[in-house]
Amino acid sequence: MPTILSISGSPSPTSRTARLLRSLDSRLTVQGHQVIPLDIRTLPAEALLHADFGHPEIVRATELVARADGVVIGTPVYKAAYSGLLKALLDLLPQFALEGKTVLPLATGGSTAHVLAIDYGLRPVLASMGPAHITPGWFVLDQHIEVGKDGA
Ligand SMILES: Cc1cc2nc3c(=O)[nH]c(=O)nc-3n(C[C@H](O)[C@H](O)[C@H](O)COP(=O)(O)O)c2cc1C
Repeated sequence: MPTILSISGSPSPTSRTARLLRSLDSRLTVQGHQVIPLDIRTLPAEALLHADFGHPEIVRATELVARADGVVIGTPVYKAAYSGLLKALLDLLPQFALEGKTVLPLATGGSTAHVLAIDYGLRPVLASMGPAHITPGWFVLDQHIEVGKDGA
């Protein structure tokens, strides 16, 4: 069974990006994939900010990426680009962490003005990590995503 790692790069506890990802996860599961969600915001902040490559939770996240056949990478658009939280994790992964994998980049944003943030910002970063294929990005306006107070 193909394994998909579904990564959210939003720091928000009531994240629309995470809500969108979990909806996608359900669809992928129904289609026969094993989906593993990873919210970067649950990783230890100090390890992320101090580049603690050896922290057990960073090592585990790195292993989850290594084991995945496909990776969905979701980010909110912040200041016309992907989130700093996402970059903090990507910077801790090996240079070719996405080698041989298919990657779906996904973004949520408040305005279509920054709909290209995936292509001018995120895609080059992902491409540098050696994926076999990066699918066309998927951008969703925040007003089209409903999130409850518990984030679900
Ligand atoms: C600090 C901050 C900066 C933002 N900057 C942008 C932006 O430059 N362009 C845009 O379209 N939306 C921007 N937004 C709106 C978010 O991208 C949008 O609400 C997104 O769905 C939030 O996702 P989240 O709930 O997962 O954090 C910004 C929101 C925040 C909090």
